[in-house]
Amino acid sequence: MTNRSQPLKPLSAFLPKQKPEQYLYQMDPAKHEIALSTNNLQVRYGDKLSFSDGDLAFERYKITSLIGASGSGKSTFLRSLNRMNDGIANVTGQIWYRGLDINSKEIDVYEMRRHIGMVFQRPNPFAKSIYNNITFPLTQRGHYSKEELDEIVERTLKQAALWDQVKDDLNKSALSLSGGQAQRLVIARALALKPDILLLDEPSSALDPISSAQFEETLLQLKEHYTIIIVTHNMQQAARISDYTAFFHLGKVVEYDLTRKIFTRPKVELTNDYISGNFG
Ligand SMILES: Nc1ncnc2c1ncn2[C@@H]1O[C@H](COP(=O)(O)OP(=O)(O)OP(=O)(O)O)[C@@H](O)[C@H]1O
Ligand SMILES: [Mg+2]
Repeated sequence: MTNRSQPLKPLSAFLPKQKPEQYLYQMDPAKHEIALSTNNLQVRYGDKLSFSDGDLAFERYKITSLIGASGSGKSTFLRSLNRMNDGIANVTGQIWYRGLDINSKEIDVYEMRRHIGMVFQRPNPFAKSIYNNITFPLTQRGHYSKEELDEIVERTLKQAALWDQVKDDLNKSALSLSGGQAQRLVIARALALKPDILLLDEPSSALDPISSAQFEETLLQLKEHYTIIIVTHNMQQAARISDYTAFFHLGKVVEYDLTRKIFTRPKVELTNDYISGNFG
């Protein structure tokens, strides 16, 4: 039997006493131009929910880093942003890009991917020459003169910090490149399509320190024209190059904020543990 005269507990008794478990920076669309945003995004592989709760907005012409332990859902989230999980995972929720929900069935996925380009965690060069790796996607859909293509190949290979190493071997098979070189080639290939948004999944994980530094320099130049979302395991890199950082843990975004806040005074304990290496 319940005692009906028992007074209700004050509401404050139900509020969490501890620090928030999640803090998501709410970007003000009046002050920041939003290039891409997600709403109620959930990704399931079979029955397994691998990502949920990411109501995130990404600012145009900024770099946003996605950080977090292995298996925390960074690639799952990133791949969903240009529908690379189609046929692999069940993705629900909305992904807003220029007033369109690109997660809806009506979207021309191929066209959308010209706007939202992606470089995968594992480089996937085509079994073609270095030169044709870059020009193939272009010539499939448009007409370019030899001079234009030469210019694009040189410019994008320079941007990807690979030109000096391959300029005399452009007709060699891309499959003969080392892992780090192949990674830079697929970055050049993505840049050749001039996407609006560039999704990069650990693009410099296979690069030596010099190439990696060159690549960071490139990213900082690219953000004048591109919105970049990059997954990285390198905390220093995230701190150096990105404007915003999102910290992933067990398939959720625990904290999303300006990079300088994440790395100096994160609001969530778990974020602090991760960036200071006290994880686990
Ligand atoms: N194709 C898939 N099928 C089934 N489960 C998957 C698939 N891809 C990823 N997962 C699962 O989803 C979870 C998140 O994986 P995800 O690859 O997104 O992690 P991550 O943060 O990118 O890790 P890493 O830093 O190692 O790349 C993991 O538990 C993983 O096993
Ligand atoms: Mg990954």
